[in-house]
Amino acid sequence: MVELHDEFPQAPGLRYLNHAAVAPWPRRAAEAVAAFAQQNLAVGARDYPQWLETERRLRERLKRLLNAPSIADVALVKNTSEALSFVAFGLDWREGDEVVISDEEFPSNRVVWEALQRFDVQVRQVGLKGDDPEADLLQACNGRTRLMAISAVQYASGLRLDLERLGQGCEQRGVLLCIDAIQQLGALPFDVQDSRCAFAMADGHKWLLGPEGLGVFYCRRDLRERLTLHEYGWHMLEHAGDYDRREWEPARSARRFECGSPNMLGAVALEASLSLLEEVGMPKVARALGERIDVLREGLARLPGIELLGDARPERRAGILTFRIGDGEQSGHFEALKQAQVVCALRGGGIRLSPHFYTPQRVLDETLDLVRGMARR
Ligand SMILES: Cc1ncc(COP(=O)(O)O)c(C=O)c1O
Repeated sequence: MVELHDEFPQAPGLRYLNHAAVAPWPRRAAEAVAAFAQQNLAVGARDYPQWLETERRLRERLKRLLNAPSIADVALVKNTSEALSFVAFGLDWREGDEVVISDEEFPSNRVVWEALQRFDVQVRQVGLKGDDPEADLLQACNGRTRLMAISAVQYASGLRLDLERLGQGCEQRGVLLCIDAIQQLGALPFDVQDSRCAFAMADGHKWLLGPEGLGVFYCRRDLRERLTLHEYGWHMLEHAGDYDRREWEPARSARRFECGSPNMLGAVALEASLSLLEEVGMPKVARALGERIDVLREGLARLPGIELLGDARPERRAGILTFRIGDGEQSGHFEALKQAQVVCALRGGGIRLSPHFYTPQRVLDETLDLVRGMARR
């Protein structure tokens, strides 16, 4: 049985509601990094094979979290943006091709497609405010659409999309589905096979409770060799480690996207963080997170002068709740919350709260009390 108080001994008085930005680490990740530092100090990389074993466990955990068919389908990358760039600059675009995105995407999942303008690729942005955003996204696909790139959960409004429906619709239309899963992976179950996506990517520093600088890229097996590579080095070779060999070819696995030495420090931390999520289990994580979002949502809905942004339906949300206090500028309220040790974010014209499955009830109650005081003023 995991002792959550022990795993998250955060500073007294801190109200950490910012997992949609950068999450705190659990104790086991901090301890793994401390032990790794000590090992480096004492014996350097003498026990490198052990490190490779940790890295292999990390890949296995990521494979399970994504429900990827094989460990060969996942690559370790720097971040979500890098993986998106691998897709955008790897596909063989034809003049006039189109990409469908939403008009709420985080810059990483917009800019990368707009950067294809030099190949005459057009980007269509679809609003998600209608009653049926999936239908709107699919309707925007036409004979020229090659790819739909969408966040599983929108970073500001918190809107969660029906990925299976999008996957099915894209498949019927011969459109590749690329999912930015950073706001879902680690918060709710996520399944690359159910969603029939071609590509999915996420970073470790949000809901996965890891450090910045290490993410995951899933590339469907049949598409791996269709992505032109732009980064080369020793590590991405089929025969990596055979340094005397003169002939080479890219690895047949997704390691072909990993050009050089791995981020071993990040791997040590993320492997430990994921072990916690796996011990608790994603269904339980999702349930606990949903309960915390309900507490915040219901608490805020009772307060006068509060406007809740985003869709309230459980199937339309994950771990993000955005609201406004009154109808003016929100930055003053945001600063006041920050002063009161509520760690949150200013996003999409409102204040964004993002608890995680372990967030204590005390944090929710105290935050609601603070907002109540501010709404009265
Ligand atoms: C939806 C979404 N995509 C991408 C990113 C950025 O990811 P990365 O820093 O891993 O490239 C964020 C960060 O907030 C995000 O919310």
